[in-house]
Amino acid sequence: MRAVLLGPPGAGKGTQAVRLVEKYGIPQISTGDIFRKNIKEGTELGKKAQEYTNSGRLVPDELVVDLVADRLLQDDCANGYLLDGFPRTIAQAEAFDKMLEKNGQKLDAVINFEVGYETLMERLTGRRLCKACGASYHIKNFPPKVEGVCDKCGGELEQRKDDTRETAEKRIEVYEESTAPLIEYYQKAGTLRNFNAEKDPAEVFAEIVAEIGE
Ligand code: AP5
Repeated sequence: MRAVLLGPPGAGKGTQAVRLVEKYGIPQISTGDIFRKNIKEGTELGKKAQEYTNSGRLVPDELVVDLVADRLLQDDCANGYLLDGFPRTIAQAEAFDKMLEKNGQKLDAVINFEVGYETLMERLTGRRLCKACGASYHIKNFPPKVEGVCDKCGGELEQRKDDTRETAEKRIEVYEESTAPLIEYYQKAGTLRNFNAEKDPAEVFAEIVAEIGE
C-alpha cells in the first residue's frame, strides 16, 4: 500500500503512523523526522533545514523533493510506504506524481486528518518526546507514569523546539496557506479519505483500517 498522511501539525499523523506501519508492514517516511535527525547530527542538510523548522516555516521544496525521491527508491519501499509530512505544497504533490509515474506506481490513499484549531494547539504544546528512543507522550492525554521519564526506556522527555505556542501558531498558519490546498488536489484525483481525528487514537485507527482495507 502507498499512502500519504495529510493534516495540520498535531493532527495525530505520527501517532497513527506507528500503528499503520505495524499493521501493514510498510515503512513510515517522515520528512520532519529526517530533518530533525539531520539537525541533531549537524549534517549539511540539517544546517540548511534548521532555520526553517525552528521557526515553523516550510523547508524549500528543492531540499525536500530529491530527498524523498531517493528514499522511495530504497528496497524497503518496494511493497509500499506511508508518507508522513510529504507532500506539503502543490509543487511537492506534482513532483510526487512524477515520481510515481517514473516508478510505474500508483497512490492508493491520502488519509486526511480533520481536527479543530484549539485541539491542535493543546496537542502540540502538550507533546513530549523521549530524547533517547523518540517515544511520544502528551502531558494530559497520554502522560508517562513518572513525569518527565519515558515509560519504555527510562530516557528523559523533552519538548520539540517548534512546539512552543508561538511557533505552533505559525505552523498552523503555514499549513492553512501552503498545505490545505492539497485537500482539493487529492479530492480531484479521487484518492482523498477524510477522518475525524478529534476522536481517541484507537477509534481513528479502526476507522482508517475499515476504510482502506485489511
Ligand atoms: P513534521 O515533523 O512533519 O511536523 P507536523 O506536520 O507539524 O506534524 P507533527 O509531527 O507536529 O504532528 P502529528 O500530526 O504527527 O501529531 P502527533 O501524532 O505527534 O514537520 C516539522 C517541520 O519540518 C515543518 O514545520 C517544516 O519546517 C519541516 N518539514 C517537514 N516536512 C516538510 C515538507 N514536506 N516540506 C517542507 N518542510 C517540511 O500528535 C501530537 C500530540 O497529540 C502528541 O502528544 C499525541 O500524543 C497527541 N495525540 C495524537 N493523536 C491524538 C488523539 N487522537 N487524541 C488525543 N491526543 C492525541
